[in-house]
Amino acid sequence: MSTVPWIPSPKTPIEYLKYGLGVNSSDVVLDLGCGDGRVLLEFAKAGAHTICIEINRILCNVAQLAFRVHGMENKIDVICKDFFSVDLANIKPKPTIVYAYLYPSTLEALSNKLENELDTCTIIATLDFPIRGWSPVFVKHIIDENDHSRTVWIYVNGFSNPKARQLTESGMVGLADLPNYCTCRRKLFLL
Ligand SMILES: C[S@@+](CC[C@H](N)C(=O)[O-])C[C@H]1O[C@@H](n2cnc3c(N)ncnc32)[C@H](O)[C@@H]1O
Repeated sequence: MSTVPWIPSPKTPIEYLKYGLGVNSSDVVLDLGCGDGRVLLEFAKAGAHTICIEINRILCNVAQLAFRVHGMENKIDVICKDFFSVDLANIKPKPTIVYAYLYPSTLEALSNKLENELDTCTIIATLDFPIRGWSPVFVKHIIDENDHSRTVWIYVNGFSNPKARQLTESGMVGLADLPNYCTCRRKLFLL
């Protein structure tokens, strides 16, 4: 699988996610491949604690520096590693939202890991590329600040992926109740 280069997210879709997901101080946002930390900085400004997993040592340092410059160094944990080598189930505090701006092939390779290691109801948002085989709960087309067309894909772990079947087959939740079950912990403002 080819390595995903650093291409920063534009601001507009991140602003959309920040308000659409109602990000607040009870959230923990994980960016898989956080680059220079700009996405996480926006979520941190909304009160969230943030976690960066980034393979590039220089970008890890830049992300840490960016938070320090904004006086928010206590709002980010940087894990300078290959995200495939990190057990997401062991990350503390547990992410409530995961963001990923990665190639489709990388998202597909990550999909089982996300499904198995993240808690049920964790929100997973991807930019421009969907997760193959998963059903988004929301898809938003946005024109960014550079006049480029972008797409935000929003998934809920345990609803958007095969885990949904496990939940319903175990009798824990009826299929019709899954959307409520998974979004009950947050009010969404997605338009
Ligand atoms: C498209 S950029 C997105 C950067 C940032 N999330 C943003 O939206 O501005 C992808 C990032 O993922 C990082 N990356 C690629 N493969 C990785 C891996 N296996 N483990 C951790 N980080 C990785 C790259 O170094 C790069 O910074």
